Amino acid sequence: MARVPGKIGYPLIGDESYEFYKDYHAYISKKFEHYGNIFCSRFLNKPTVFIGTHMGVRQLLNSQSNDLEMGYKSFMDHIFSDNILFASDFEAENLRRDLISIFSPQCLENCEEASFATEICQTVFLDLDASTAKETAEAISKLTTSHWHGLISVPVNLRLPGIKQSGYSKAIDAKNQLLKWIKDRLKTSIKGFPLRMKETFDEESAASHLLLFSTSLVPKAISSLICSFLLQATAEENFFEKISDQKVFDAFIKEIYRYYPPILGGRRIAKKDLIIDGYRIPENHSIVYLTHSANRDQMIFENGNTFNYERWLGDKDKPCIFTFGTSRRNCIGIKMVSIILETTCKLLLKEFTWTSNAVNDFQYKPLPISRPVDGYKCRFIPKGTI
Ligand code: HEM
Repeated sequence: MARVPGKIGYPLIGDESYEFYKDYHAYISKKFEHYGNIFCSRFLNKPTVFIGTHMGVRQLLNSQSNDLEMGYKSFMDHIFSDNILFASDFEAENLRRDLISIFSPQCLENCEEASFATEICQTVFLDLDASTAKETAEAISKLTTSHWHGLISVPVNLRLPGIKQSGYSKAIDAKNQLLKWIKDRLKTSIKGFPLRMKETFDEESAASHLLLFSTSLVPKAISSLICSFLLQATAEENFFEKISDQKVFDAFIKEIYRYYPPILGGRRIAKKDLIIDGYRIPENHSIVYLTHSANRDQMIFENGNTFNYERWLGDKDKPCIFTFGTSRRNCIGIKMVSIILETTCKLLLKEFTWTSNAVNDFQYKPLPISRPVDGYKCRFIPKGTI
């Protein structure tokens, strides 16, 4: 089997995390050009294989359950406490079953009035209504922002050349305050998602999972998708006429998922030697899978680097995409996200048209959630005024 091309370099001095974080897209394209879409380097001071082919990501995410570890614990357990993302496939099986039984479209019942992704997530996961508990909602938002800055920072135990540890201690403080607030909330919960969590899990596990769901990761990922929808709409000819057809709407959303995945990739650790897309990955190597690249793989998607919702129309078998992962560790929030996205986009379409010239000079900040560097501006025109 072929050896993965690239250089894993010497500890610390050979580390390329700084280049990766400084300009993700430039780093990945340079490596792809040099080595192809599977390569290795030293990342976060570990020998790491990057996988950017559709075949490679599919094989990795479908691997036997005892071949891989999730790889998120060493990376972010400082900023979260024990949760499903850190669990083995075996432990995750029960957690997934319990969590899926709690997630249902009814979770979104109280959210009709909530207008932004953060409020939606606070309402769903914490049973916190920003319209009646404004001050608490604002205080929680502030804490989740500080916590977020810790997520962007690199683990403090890794001192890598060129990378600052800013925001780290504030983030840990925010995590502790959030966990304390969530535990108090759980004690007094008599309805909604927190009550179901309390009934299903022990206190620690319920609080850790609520922390995971209610931090900025989820709302920022949902906002990223709404933003991509708004942006791409203004680039399509006759968008507002075509999108009223439900089939076109569904295809458009699917292409938003493919082309603009909010989370550009994920992690694993090889527990033994593995063969992925023809390459041998040695035991203990870290693996980063690149959703963004696999979703655009030209071998699978014709003109993969072009946004074309029509690829999802028609009855032909369609390839999978990895925006929500796939297989046994896929995202359990897909249904919830698609309901939120569909409801928000349809509400916007019902009330407004909008214009923007941003699509041509739009810059994405890729990590940890892909989103506009300077926000995104468009002009909304209420339908009644046209
Ligand atoms: C736009 C929003 C979202 C995106 C892009 C997203 C993406 C993902 C991805 C890619 C994974 C797989 C990670 C891996 O295998 O390496 C994942 C896992 C997961 N997601 Fe989401 N997610 C989103 C929203 C949500 C929501 C709303 C929830 C619900 C609370 C959720 C809960 C989870 C959980 C619990 C896992 C871990 C599953 C496991 O480890 O078995 N996600 N998500």
